[in-house]
Amino acid sequence: MTTLHYTGVAHNFNSGPSVLPREVFEQASQAILDFNNSGLSILEIGHRTSLFQEVMDEAVALLKELMKLDNEHEVLFLHGGASTQFFQIPMNLLDEKETAAYMDCGTWGTKAIKEAKLFGNVDVVASSKDKSYTYIPKGFTIPSSAKYFHYTSNNTIEGTQMHAIPETNVPLVADMSSDILSTSVDFNRFSLIYAGAQKNIGAAGVNVVVVKKDILGKVSRKLPTMMDYRNHIENGSMLNTPPVFAVYVCMLTLRWLKQQGGIPEMERLNEAKAKLLYATLDSLPVFRPKVAKEDRSKMNVVWVMDDVELEKKFLAECKNNGMVGIKGHRTVGGFRASLYNALPIESAIALSDVMKDFARKHG
Ligand SMILES: Cc1ncc(COP(=O)(O)O)c(C=O)c1O
Repeated sequence: MTTLHYTGVAHNFNSGPSVLPREVFEQASQAILDFNNSGLSILEIGHRTSLFQEVMDEAVALLKELMKLDNEHEVLFLHGGASTQFFQIPMNLLDEKETAAYMDCGTWGTKAIKEAKLFGNVDVVASSKDKSYTYIPKGFTIPSSAKYFHYTSNNTIEGTQMHAIPETNVPLVADMSSDILSTSVDFNRFSLIYAGAQKNIGAAGVNVVVVKKDILGKVSRKLPTMMDYRNHIENGSMLNTPPVFAVYVCMLTLRWLKQQGGIPEMERLNEAKAKLLYATLDSLPVFRPKVAKEDRSKMNVVWVMDDVELEKKFLAECKNNGMVGIKGHRTVGGFRASLYNALPIESAIALSDVMKDFARKHG
């Protein structure tokens, strides 16, 4: 087997939790031993101390700055992962007799639809289920009576991405778990954005919710205290004990992102990584990308091979070259390379070289 580019540090193509910047690991490690020369570990400080309040304040301020959010939008760091948002959103925004419009373009969108149906009516206005979610539907209509329109901006498992925000007057709600902060977007157009942190924002254990205040407080049902976004806003994401360490890692990652040049620089690098891998895949017939070209994700590159034995050999070749997380999701098969912000371009180059080398031998 050939070994190309492997220096002992893994090329981490995991889909989430996933690669984070080396500096973040070093700073987080130091903070576990002694946080800001306090003589205390970050793991033992109280969340109501000024030590942690500064972390939370900086994390919120950095996100607002990087996303260029206006004053109508609040940033929250909440527990429960993106999956909790699947039901917390309709619980807060959708009354029993009202209808919300949803897009069904992959595993996560399907799950969001299932949860929303517990609270009100769901109108699935677009779906790509007919072709195993390998494309993004176009030209669909969102009824102006819908309470909100929900979509997944990047389908992590299937490898498709929405490259434009749908035109509508209905409040927009998006699951941006796997592409937030990776590309320039007018985030102020959304009434609610949510994302699990474990891909582009930081460590697992926390999720970010950006919410426009004017959509809240309009449903008639009673909300459990912890489920009402307004309580979290009032308490600065500290209604109860926040995931202190996860928020800290987010803050460090956001600092890193700003130092790198913010979202425009991430976009430039992500574009380069994705372009290289798709060009390599398109030039080598032994590999077969599955999704419609115009809907390809710049975050999760998905492809299959037609020969199962060759797939096994390619996987072994990747492993031998220090590549982890390259196996496709069990529902899709084949391969998936996740190219989140912190993945160095060298890892994409290394994977492309392994593909070319493999095709020379087996193509
Ligand atoms: C687009 C998308 N939405 C939701 C989720 C679920 O996130 P969590 O595990 O934080 O609930 C994921 C997880 O990978 C995802 O990729």
